[in-house]
Amino acid sequence: MIILGIETSCDETGAAVIEAKKGDKKINLLSNVVASSLPIHIKTGGIIPENAARQQIKYIIPVIKQALSSTRVELSAIDAIAVTIGPGLIGSLLIGVETAKTLAFAWNKPIIPVNHLIGHIYANFIESESSLSLRSGFAGEAISEIAEFPAIALIVSGGHTDLLLMKNYRELKWLGGTRDDAAGEAFDKIGRLLELPYPGGPSIEKASEQGNAAIFKFPRPMIDSNNLDFSFSGLKTAVFQTVQRLKTKDQRLIANLSASVQQTIIDVIITKTLKAAERYKVKSIIAAGGVSANQKLRDEFRKKIEDKKMKVKLFFPEKKFCTDNAAMIATAAFFNYKPIPWQKITANPELYFD
Ligand code: KG4
Ligand code: ZN
Repeated sequence: MIILGIETSCDETGAAVIEAKKGDKKINLLSNVVASSLPIHIKTGGIIPENAARQQIKYIIPVIKQALSSTRVELSAIDAIAVTIGPGLIGSLLIGVETAKTLAFAWNKPIIPVNHLIGHIYANFIESESSLSLRSGFAGEAISEIAEFPAIALIVSGGHTDLLLMKNYRELKWLGGTRDDAAGEAFDKIGRLLELPYPGGPSIEKASEQGNAAIFKFPRPMIDSNNLDFSFSGLKTAVFQTVQRLKTKDQRLIANLSASVQQTIIDVIITKTLKAAERYKVKSIIAAGGVSANQKLRDEFRKKIEDKKMKVKLFFPEKKFCTDNAAMIATAAFFNYKPIPWQKITANPELYFD
């Protein structure tokens, strides 16, 4: 089966072609094209939705054309079209959704709506050379590249922080999420506060390399609570107050603040995810979303699992599949193949979990 995926939920315009057959545990990626309007948002220090939507209009047709032309796949060989319907920015979502509907009608192909958040998880099931080397088993065990179920899925993106129980490739149950800011949002807002370039996540990761995480001790709200929820907005306030109090913003200070912020967010994410893993006695942890590209998060996660001698396998997508792309959307559609009439597909910016 060959699926064309389309993703336009925020500031990336993505189109990808994947191939897989029934029973496959991973898909084969044939092409993956992403055009980002990031340079425009760097100038404004964040995303202005109207600007992102205008860029989506500009990129959508060239990106789809390129994704198709870079494979040797004939149009007739495409079995279905998958498209992100939400959550996201309405102006951006509409471009992808209406384009996908038009193509499904014109080419007479089935169309599958995909929840963007669920799409992130499936970035772990994209087969590629480099993704194999990232796989990690626990100490002393053979390294497996295939997730075993049940699993805990951790979504840490710009807009969401969620923990889900994955019973198999299809069945998901939401366990908890952030009560205020998402982990990525905390990185972005604090990055802005520290006058680092947008997006804050990669900027704070880079600045942290020169910093000492022990200099500032920030609160870790809800880290010890019994539930599987998160809260990150207090961290932003704590950093704001610290910056106000110190009155200077020299490079060393920024580095130390960055390292402390990164460590705080990582500690909370790992503690809560391992709590979920223990509670549900899972065999795998599957991380996803933009923040899962963070190398320190990856290293500390692995170390913590080893230290605790937990028998759980840890998975991260290849870094380029952590942030928004259409390959993950097409992959999610393959594992949840539920086409609906194109007339019934609508963008839903508020879409969450059922
Ligand atoms: O998943 P994503 O591309 O978009 C959403 O669906 O929201 O995630 C974007 C988020 C941004 O908040 C960005 O700051 C964060 O992921 N991010 C990172 C890193 N790379 C991206 N956060 C921490 N460390 C990184 N290396
Ligand atoms: Zn995303």
